[in-house]
Amino acid sequence: MTLPIRTARLIIRRFAYSDIDDLVALTRHESVARETANIPREDRGKLMNYIDTQAGYSLFEANQCVDLAVELKESGCVIGLLSLVSDGERQGEIGWGFSIDHRAQGLATEAARALITHAFTECNYHRIFAGTPLTNERSWKLMERLGMRKEAHFVKAHAPENPDGAWIDTVRYAILADEWDG
Ligand SMILES: CC(C)(COP(=O)(O)OP(=O)(O)OC[C@H]1O[C@@H](n2cnc3c(N)ncnc32)[C@H](O)[C@@H]1OP(=O)(O)O)[C@@H](O)C(=O)NCCC(=O)NCCS
Repeated sequence: MTLPIRTARLIIRRFAYSDIDDLVALTRHESVARETANIPREDRGKLMNYIDTQAGYSLFEANQCVDLAVELKESGCVIGLLSLVSDGERQGEIGWGFSIDHRAQGLATEAARALITHAFTECNYHRIFAGTPLTNERSWKLMERLGMRKEAHFVKAHAPENPDGAWIDTVRYAILADEWDG
């Protein structure tokens, strides 16, 4: 795996200690916080350990959430993150979270497209999939923008930790290496 990955506006790379303030700000927002339970919150020591642990993972690390920083070239700040969880057998689940100030500009699409291309061309992945609650329209629209295929709609299949504990629908999308046109 060769990181960083460079796109027109972004650099996708490992997190560094110097990103801690950006990472704290990013994961403070509730919409990103609920997707990044594996990332310590405000504790700098724990964040340094997390960054060290992440640095030891490959993009094939089986059953581990491998998080990558998305840096905006223009500012040098980390404005989002991508995650990849491999099953160790050439399939992986991709995830994403971007700062509220950097949404609706196509940045998540640009970053995810680059990581999927990298996974297929450099890492020999066979299939990338993603899932989200049906209510997270921004996330499944991103999957569709990327050209992922809708594979499933699970009815009342998940009970998030919300106050009413209501069961919600979820959707699953995927794309095969053979189908990917970048
Ligand atoms: C999911 C998430 C990453 C999607 O972010 P996003 O801003 O909608 O996605 P993008 O950055 O690709 O921006 C796409 C939007 O920018 C617009 N856009 C502007 N310039 C663009 C460009 N150059 N290229 C592509 N799209 C562009 C698109 O039209 C689209 O807008 P629309 O949805 O109104 O049609 C974001 O909502 C997020 O971080 N949510 C919180 C975390 C989360 O829920 N993660 C998923 C858990 S399952």
